[in-house]
Amino acid sequence: MGAIDWDRRLFDELIPLPDGTSYNSYLIRGSEKTVLIDTVDPAKREELFKQLDAVETLDILIIQHVEQDHSGSVPDVLERFPDVEIYASPKAQPMIADHLGIPEERVTIAEDGATVSLGNWTLEFIQAPWVHWPETMLTYLREEKVLFTCDLFGSHLATNDLFAVDRPRVCDAAKRYFAEIMMPFSNLIKGHLEKLAPYEIDVICPSHGPVYDDPSFILDAYRHWVLDPPKNLVLLPYTSMHDSTRRMVDHFVAALTERGIHVERFHLSKIDLGEYATHLVDAATVIFATPTVLVGPHPSIIPVAYLTAALRPKLRYAGVIGSFGWAGQAAERTQNLCANLKADWFEPVFTKGLPKEETFVALDALADEIAARHKALD
Ligand code: FEO
Repeated sequence: MGAIDWDRRLFDELIPLPDGTSYNSYLIRGSEKTVLIDTVDPAKREELFKQLDAVETLDILIIQHVEQDHSGSVPDVLERFPDVEIYASPKAQPMIADHLGIPEERVTIAEDGATVSLGNWTLEFIQAPWVHWPETMLTYLREEKVLFTCDLFGSHLATNDLFAVDRPRVCDAAKRYFAEIMMPFSNLIKGHLEKLAPYEIDVICPSHGPVYDDPSFILDAYRHWVLDPPKNLVLLPYTSMHDSTRRMVDHFVAALTERGIHVERFHLSKIDLGEYATHLVDAATVIFATPTVLVGPHPSIIPVAYLTAALRPKLRYAGVIGSFGWAGQAAERTQNLCANLKADWFEPVFTKGLPKEETFVALDALADEIAARHKALD
């Protein structure tokens, strides 16, 4: 059940959605009880309610995640089914009161490992905090080996394929989604993957994007994204005002290429933050390239630097290159924007005015250093 949001192009007023998204909810008709898992974004409530017209009785509503794209239609479901029993995680109970105005006593706590019988089938609750808020949990339909995961393993992809049949497309969308939403919690996701290892899973049902009828496809992808060391890849977000920094970037890209290092360059005036974030899943190094404006870096680098640190990628190394007119602190201030980034910083390379021979020599030396460090990646 749920709704496909074909035309949505921005999530949380932040995340670009080039392929739209979906809000999946799931109806389980057991022999004794009928259950709805999650609802839809309030903007799509009418679509959900058209589907619920065919449901005479709803015994249980499971709220796996309180973010409004899944819980926003819960108050409407309660109006239609006033006697429905709500299950949610212990941390979700007060959040449901805060965000949806539903009294805490209305919610039955679903502890980790607790079960509820639907007659012929059993649902088990699995606590999985921080995928993507602190209260998130998963639900396992034991006899059918179906795992409902809400945000975890999702993809922002509007498609009328029920299952993930177009694997390259789904993989790209799921990786972008992982980068934007899940990557900051990679350490916790490692634990969740270990916790799920003993479960036999035939189908994974996320609340965004298509269903996985071959769960190994998305589970293996998550293992790679979370556990693999970073790759021999440099990200190079840059801008230039009077061509000095652009000439440095051109030289630097050639120097890295000569040394067998893959580079992705992103002009800051054209950057797709989702695409940049996707490359952060794999990159070992980021080098910011900026001219100097009012002593600091060009302002267009601020959201990119902020996001680079906030997403907590596997990056091992970082640096700043660029230019200034007469004086400046663009390198230090760029580094300060990324104060929480756990990376080793290279010595900055800056030129006063146009780059000169010594600037290109310094860029070559930086490329040598990156090549040496990348060779040691494990
Ligand atoms: Fe799809 Fe965190 O909501």
